[in-house]
Amino acid sequence: MLITDDGSISLKSAQFDETYHSKFGAVSESKHVFINAGLQERYQRHPKKSPKLRVFEMGFGTGLNAVLTLQWAEDMKLPIVYHAIELFPLDEAQLNALNHADFVAGELREKVYQIQHCDFGIGRIAYAPTVGISPYFDLKKQQISILDIRLPNDHFDVIFFDAFSPNIQPELWTEHVFQKLYNASRKNAILTTYCVKGEIRRALQNAGFFVEKIPGPVGKREITRAIK
Ligand SMILES: C[S@@+](CC[C@H](N)C(=O)[O-])C[C@H]1O[C@@H](n2cnc3c(N)ncnc32)[C@H](O)[C@@H]1O
Repeated sequence: MLITDDGSISLKSAQFDETYHSKFGAVSESKHVFINAGLQERYQRHPKKSPKLRVFEMGFGTGLNAVLTLQWAEDMKLPIVYHAIELFPLDEAQLNALNHADFVAGELREKVYQIQHCDFGIGRIAYAPTVGISPYFDLKKQQISILDIRLPNDHFDVIFFDAFSPNIQPELWTEHVFQKLYNASRKNAILTTYCVKGEIRRALQNAGFFVEKIPGPVGKREITRAIK
């Protein structure tokens, strides 16, 4: 367990020897990279084309991005369908060590438990059952690798690419994977990730995305935003 600089708790993966979030603040990082640079940006650029945004997350992990997306959807009164995949779900003891519920409005605290504990669907096809967490937040979780999943074409508006780093899992940061996500994205979709390595940005570009570097959260100079 790791208490990060903004008081939010993160974990370190024994399997990959890497933390799930930045030590400078798990919630601050997630809000900056995924909620503000990805979800909010996509909404602001095309508010009229956002009646029900579809979000795809690579790497559900502790569920923090999902929890903060629920809060955003409630604040904005905009419905979100959130599809997350995770190959190695956390166990009960690991989930219990987290304090994500301290970072949402009081009435949403019990929803954090539901987000973290609802079952993972299995199988290669994307159409696993969706769970209604709130009137503004439907969730679908699948235990599957990004390398194996089949995704629908032209489907997602926002993609949170939150894999462990390319040094640790280079096989996930390839043009092949980004091509799969490009095909699964709708026009104007935005993919964000904390990584700004040149080779990763080139792989995103080769997959078809327009790629830009934008300022990062505390402790990280820049992050990457990719647009279809
Ligand atoms: C940086 S963590 C994600 C943190 C998470 N988004 C959160 O809000 O807590 C990366 C996640 O990717 C998962 N992962 C690793 N290999 C994967 C694969 N091939 N397909 C899908 N998920 C994978 C890891 O188990 C880990 O949970």
